[in-house]
Amino acid sequence: MGRGFIDVRQNLATPAPQSGCIDPARIEAETEASLQPLLPEGAISGARCIQRNDADLLSPTERAGIGAAVPKVLNASGAARAVARRLMNTLGLPPAEIRRGPRRAPIWPAGLVGSLSHCERIAVAAIARSEDFVGLGIDIEPSEGIEPELARMVLTPHEAELVGDNPQIAHACFAIKEAVYKAVFPSDGLFLDFHDVELDFQSGTATTSYGRTVAWSCGLSASILTVAWIVRED
Ligand SMILES: CC(C)(COP(=O)(O)OP(=O)(O)OC[C@H]1O[C@@H](n2cnc3c(N)ncnc32)[C@H](O)[C@@H]1OP(=O)(O)O)[C@@H](O)C(=O)NCCC(=O)NCCS
Repeated sequence: MGRGFIDVRQNLATPAPQSGCIDPARIEAETEASLQPLLPEGAISGARCIQRNDADLLSPTERAGIGAAVPKVLNASGAARAVARRLMNTLGLPPAEIRRGPRRAPIWPAGLVGSLSHCERIAVAAIARSEDFVGLGIDIEPSEGIEPELARMVLTPHEAELVGDNPQIAHACFAIKEAVYKAVFPSDGLFLDFHDVELDFQSGTATTSYGRTVAWSCGLSASILTVAWIVRED
């Protein structure tokens, strides 16, 4: 079972009230605090505000694998990989390269599963041991809401009935489905469309068109944060 929607607004990444300056360390701490209740036991996550030279955090092989990309994209990918390497260190593992595999899926070192995501300002990563999890997905999105046209593409008819006219929840569903895709693709290798994933809001699970069940949790705050996972049963 997943945890479904969790209110993490107390952990909002708000700008500093006095100066109007945004303190990166504060945003990182608040994002990490918001991620904490979303994680299944055994998974760890982290966040980093994307900085101008974060492309330098990519190894030459990682950099080559990303190919032609604007600095903003390289900085985001570098920041996410720096977070993931910090998490490896937390697990007592050496920091390893995270190259891109088929359909851009990250290739994790043996013994790990994990996921990366980045939005305008923040990069996040989550990892866990592959002896405990088949897959793990993470997604961060700005808490903006999506247009009705996109909501129709994202939501199945049943989901649309439950979500109603709520652009923010529709956007959260978008993020959940992306996290689910990231959790299943590395093991299953199948492309999924939004309508190939059906969300159950009661149990906090998602079912793919080919029958894979994935647990998820989603925190709504300044950003939409989502984690999806498949516990290893064998
Ligand atoms: C992967 C995807 C879901 C999100 O990627 P995005 O919009 O670039 O946004 P994010 O920043 O959240 O995620 C980027 C990270 O996702 C990961 N990722 C990309 N493709 C992936 C895949 N096939 N499987 C697992 N993870 C993947 C990568 O680690 C990537 O980081 P990098 O660019 O630094 O290498 C999207 O690009 C995609 O491939 N969509 C097609 C499938 C889909 O969305 N179906 C609808 C939902 S079921």
